[in-house]
Amino acid sequence: MTSFKIAILGCGTVGGGVAKILLENADALKIKASASLELTKILEPYPARSSKRHNLPLALYCGTGKDLSADEVQKYLREILDDSTIDLIVETIGGSGQEILNIALQTLEHKKHLVTANKALLARHGAAIFSAAGRHERAVGFEAAVCGAIPIIRAISESLTADELMSISAIMNGTSNYILSKMEAEGRPFEEALAEAQKRGYAEADPSLDVGGGDAGHKLLILLKLVFGLDLSVESLPVEGIKEINSDDLAFAKEMDCSIKLICYAKKSGDDVFATVRPMMVKRANSLSKIGGATNAVRLIGRYAGEYLFCGAGAGSLETGSAIVSDINFIARYGTKAVRQFALSACRFRSFNEFAFPYNITFETEDIPGITGIVATAIGKQHINIDTVGHNRHTSDKAIFAIATMPCTHNQIQEAIADIQRHHPSCLVSYPKIIPILE
Ligand code: HSE
Repeated sequence: MTSFKIAILGCGTVGGGVAKILLENADALKIKASASLELTKILEPYPARSSKRHNLPLALYCGTGKDLSADEVQKYLREILDDSTIDLIVETIGGSGQEILNIALQTLEHKKHLVTANKALLARHGAAIFSAAGRHERAVGFEAAVCGAIPIIRAISESLTADELMSISAIMNGTSNYILSKMEAEGRPFEEALAEAQKRGYAEADPSLDVGGGDAGHKLLILLKLVFGLDLSVESLPVEGIKEINSDDLAFAKEMDCSIKLICYAKKSGDDVFATVRPMMVKRANSLSKIGGATNAVRLIGRYAGEYLFCGAGAGSLETGSAIVSDINFIARYGTKAVRQFALSACRFRSFNEFAFPYNITFETEDIPGITGIVATAIGKQHINIDTVGHNRHTSDKAIFAIATMPCTHNQIQEAIADIQRHHPSCLVSYPKIIPILE
């Protein structure tokens, strides 16, 4: 049996999970990969700490066990790249700057396959990395980059190729989902729920990527490329996080029989694709409304087979590690043929603001006679059909109420708000909150 040699760069949460599975499950993996998967080197600046944390032999780490200086890290990196016996490098360092891009490109230039969980890197530099992989005839495994343990990349690129995928709606950031679930179920304030998510290790090193929607955006960009052939820059995808969601929004959602979720959404209409990441009110009849805690879920609608629902752990050491090891298996077994197929034809990306969707609009206004009429009239003037007007809440001098619309565009709603501001300048106390309703 041939031996397939692997090096891991970065042995924190995810890298440690990969190493553990490779060592612990070696016998079964040998059969599944048709090769003996040999973990030969781990490059990690803090070897002793990592070895202790993951219970891994210190002998696998580059160096003597002492913390490595930046120069030593570079020296060992060069040794790994120059070692022609190493077949595959697992990049679990993270980040999307030039240094990490160079490591990915050098891996491929040195004729090694690359497996990564790094969604930020792929979202920013996927085109350069995949083109280098093509040039150097090496594979890039990225199952772990989208929804941790859920095999969504494989499903889309291998299993669902006969279907035409028409829409994606997905919960792809466990931290945000955990926070929203806590706020909804236990009435906890945002900050408290975030602190607990961080304590449980769900959050990114920089939690603003989680709660700001950036992490979910990176994952949606990868799926947009895979499903619709869209090559978008990170900046061009409209992304809104959950920081502004408060107890009033959750209460209005409850009245509407909805949960609030951070949704990654994409919809194909002809050759156009509308996509966004933003909090949405999800109707209880939609399976995504029941996904609680840090769990991830992806709901796809296919032209032929209808609904597909994928659900599981989106983060975690062994969870994400298992997705990385499945890519290693695939590449060890199929070598340069282990290439995931992206969509062939590119669709046209359109602003979600032009797409008709049902919305919930929460108004905070002066508490004056006729205010509901003023707001409803402005909405009607934009040809928006109102579905429901929610209960009014009153503070000392303010009214807070929600209006749910039939499908209309965000642009129409903005026009209606501009109309109110023009004709009744002081009646809106704050800019209304506009949340799409996912049915
Ligand atoms: N921090 C991410 C999440 C996990 O909360 O889902 C890795 O992408």
